[in-house]
Amino acid sequence: MRFLAACHRRPVDATPIWIMRQAGRYLPEYRAIRDKLSFMEMCRRPDVAAEVTLQPLRHFELDAAIVFADILLPLEGMGIGFHFSPEDGPVIERPVRGAAELTGVRPFDARRDLPHVLETVKLVRRELDERTPVIGFSGAPFTLASYVVEGGHSRTYEHIKRLMYGDPETYGRLMALLADAVVDYLLAQIEAGAHAVQVFDSWAGCLAPFDYERFVLPYARDVVARVKQRGVPVIYFVNGAAGMLSLVGQAGSDVVGVDWRVELDHAWEQLGDVAVQGNLDPVALLGPPQAIEERVADILRRAAGRPGHIFNLGHGVLPSTPPDNVKYLVDAVHRLSAKSASG
Ligand code: CP3
Repeated sequence: MRFLAACHRRPVDATPIWIMRQAGRYLPEYRAIRDKLSFMEMCRRPDVAAEVTLQPLRHFELDAAIVFADILLPLEGMGIGFHFSPEDGPVIERPVRGAAELTGVRPFDARRDLPHVLETVKLVRRELDERTPVIGFSGAPFTLASYVVEGGHSRTYEHIKRLMYGDPETYGRLMALLADAVVDYLLAQIEAGAHAVQVFDSWAGCLAPFDYERFVLPYARDVVARVKQRGVPVIYFVNGAAGMLSLVGQAGSDVVGVDWRVELDHAWEQLGDVAVQGNLDPVALLGPPQAIEERVADILRRAAGRPGHIFNLGHGVLPSTPPDNVKYLVDAVHRLSAKSASG
């Protein structure tokens, strides 16, 4: 399995590729199911979630599957209600803005709160029968905290930053609760059969490096250390981290995911001895094949055949992406990397 070999920085026959949000709205057969069921219903039904997980693998020669779920799912079991609004995306019903709201938050227990996700992991693993590895995932403590405190999407992250600066004790208690939740969730997914896990810190790029180092890194490092003990590769992805990659690397993950705002070789220089995942701009997939090809070639040239490159987008695939362009991308990565490996 090329993906796992690359996570361990072992040589591969061609660069492995998977795509963040590879199961989703850009696929017509996803939309056909989604027309009948809500997103949350899809997540709650292991048969449906497993089917949707496998859909992209039938079209494209992807080197890994990622379990169909969402980073927000653990919140419900912790007593933090939320829903998806068609206009605003995720909405937290009662955002935690201080110590008072935190009293209603309880520890997460994956087996009690999300048995259906664990069942999905098992189903996917059985279905793939060791042909393709399965990636489990969780939001990182800070990204989850920013949803819980902001109440949904934010441009300024003013509520979470205000809590961080003004009431570091409550912020720390929330982050510690979330870090325990993330560890419990990832370990349960590994036990259910996940071959690797990714921790999404999608919003940590909103912070100055000074604050990332003090308020995010200790929790990320703690999560990575506790999960790594199980011996499966841990991928840590921080979106918008070009200015603080050396700090992101200090979290200690086996693989670091990078977005497209940094050249892959420059990112790798700052990260040192780790595997690197990335980093095509998702919007490049809206361009013609020629534009995709040029950008893939540039990224592979910068990876320069070093062991430990996993190709991915720098963030999730957009719903407006033509599936044919995803096929072009996957095939181009394999074709161009296999060629360079043979000289
Ligand atoms: O990668 C995969 O294919 C696995 C599934 C997956 C989803 N969400 C499915 C999903 C994964 C790994 C996620 C992670 C996730 N969810 C993140 C981290 C990655 C990132 O994009 O930064 C975040 C921030 C979320 C929170 C979230 N969930 C958002 C912002 C949205 C989109 C809201 C919208 O309507 O656009 C969701 C919903 C969601 N999660 C969808 C999917 C396929 C769309 C649901 C639908 O069909 O309406």
